[in-house]
Amino acid sequence: MSVEDIHSVAVVGSGTMGSQIAHVVALGGYPVRLYGRSQQRLDEATTACAGALRQRVAKGKLRADACEQALARVVTTTDLEAATAGADLLIKAIAEDREAKRALLVDLDRLVPAHCIVASNSSTIPSSCFADVISGPERLLNVHFFNPALVMQLVEVVRGPHTSAATAQTCMEFVRRLGKSPVLVRRESYGFIANRILFIAMQEAFRLLDAGVTGLDEIDLAVKNGLNWPMGPFELADLVGLDITRDILEQGYEQTGEQRWRPPRLLTDLVEAGHLGRKTGRGFYLYVAGRRQAVPLRAAG
Ligand code: CAA
Repeated sequence: MSVEDIHSVAVVGSGTMGSQIAHVVALGGYPVRLYGRSQQRLDEATTACAGALRQRVAKGKLRADACEQALARVVTTTDLEAATAGADLLIKAIAEDREAKRALLVDLDRLVPAHCIVASNSSTIPSSCFADVISGPERLLNVHFFNPALVMQLVEVVRGPHTSAATAQTCMEFVRRLGKSPVLVRRESYGFIANRILFIAMQEAFRLLDAGVTGLDEIDLAVKNGLNWPMGPFELADLVGLDITRDILEQGYEQTGEQRWRPPRLLTDLVEAGHLGRKTGRGFYLYVAGRRQAVPLRAAG
């Protein structure tokens, strides 16, 4: 299938990634059906995306008509069958839970047309884990967006051993048409490219904090001012979500058996306490009305 054959896109998952990906696809001119399990969550997510896009209009970065047309292209539904019927491309963006993904893909395989490309936004679970549940696995691959997807340029297009060259090329071209910068990952490997590098750096930040070398604010400042990262590792972990950060590291440990990926106690303690980062108002930092408070929860001692 060529990119010209993509007319209708379904996005499954109404979290931060799924909802923002759906709006990126709509901005690219494609009609999108966005599936979520709860209409309330879908409404909250689309309101947040509409707010971000209208802010772009207010700043003169996006034309008002282009913004409203894109918003009108996103149709939300809690009916999986209605979301996926007739889709040419499906992007799955649900939690990093292998069994949940597998169960969903079994259903999706039944629902989408035989030609539909099935793309998993997963950052750590390679599509080859599910090649046995998709009939025609040559149309299955990972297409990995970055958070916040409305802003970040990179999209990793990851070819599994079962993925056809044509499927990978169609996705590369599709991503270019969205105005993003795709990178082709030729072989599945834990963390693909960007996360493989990012999460080892995060682990080092966690180790520095745990060893009492300095406070988390100091580590964030050092990385921002010394390495020119837009955010420090703790701020970034709060943006990504501490549950997702932990899941990514756990996958690394499971898939490679290497201690360097093992999630540290200070991270798992926060997750177990329900402090998941920005989305819960507390992670490594506190957030009030979405704004980070100056005082970190664990300063230099
Ligand atoms: N959702 C949507 N849009 C957002 C946003 C969010 N959470 N946060 C910021 N933005 C938008 C703003 O609206 C603004 O848009 P416009 O330029 O169109 O007006 C733009 O981003 C810049 O925002 P600000 O000027 O307010 O702030 P900033 O210059 O500090 O940029 C940032 C914010 C883009 C998030 C920047 O700090 C950044 O790039 N941080 C690093 C992000 C990063 O590394 N992401 C990768 C995480 S790892 C990952 O995603 C992989 C994985 O699998 C987990």
